[in-house]
Amino acid sequence: MSLSESKERAALLLIAILLTGCRAKVPGKTESAAVNWTKRHLTVGGKNDKNPVPAIPENIADGKQIFTSYCMVCHGLDGQNTGVPFAETMSPAVPSLASSQVQAYTDGQLKWIIENGIYPSGMPPSKGVFSDDDMWRMVLYIRHLPKQGSLGEPAIYGGSSK
Ligand code: HEC
Repeated sequence: MSLSESKERAALLLIAILLTGCRAKVPGKTESAAVNWTKRHLTVGGKNDKNPVPAIPENIADGKQIFTSYCMVCHGLDGQNTGVPFAETMSPAVPSLASSQVQAYTDGQLKWIIENGIYPSGMPPSKGVFSDDDMWRMVLYIRHLPKQGSLGEPAIYGGSSK
């Protein structure tokens, strides 16, 4: 996918979010956040899949480029939600990809999450959108995230990306 195509996709996605995803809802009292989290993540597969793409600077930079042209709509340029106005109010909220909870996944699980998304949450599946290798490149970027805030805020939200 070219950069302009992925920008277009990101814009379409943003519209979809504004129409649907933004409606924050209060979690039901009977189901704790922990129970909900477990339910959504129980199905995460790919645990033993190894990343075939070597973690060399070139591949990490490619992963960063794809991430910051698409995933940044919800995860920010830095993968830590910087400048994403609705990250906290989405239900479930968008997690920091630098958090220990996310980093605890294996590479294979991260790839699985990117490929299949997490249902039913705002995390969309990328199957058919990106090649396998590009998804693995994004996994590399998630493993090498920059300091929080160091890339500025997404321009689509009026920020100045660095
Ligand atoms: C429409 C908004 C949106 C987009 C676009 C998006 N995500 Fe997410 N992402 C979410 C939300 C919401 C969650 C939290 C899901 C949950 O906890 O159930 C999430 C969670 C994740 C997680 C952690 C899952 C976990 O178990 O905590 C990873 C890794 C991730 N996203 C990677 C990506 C990558 C890589 C892309 C781009 C290919 C991307 N996301 C695009 C909204 C988005």
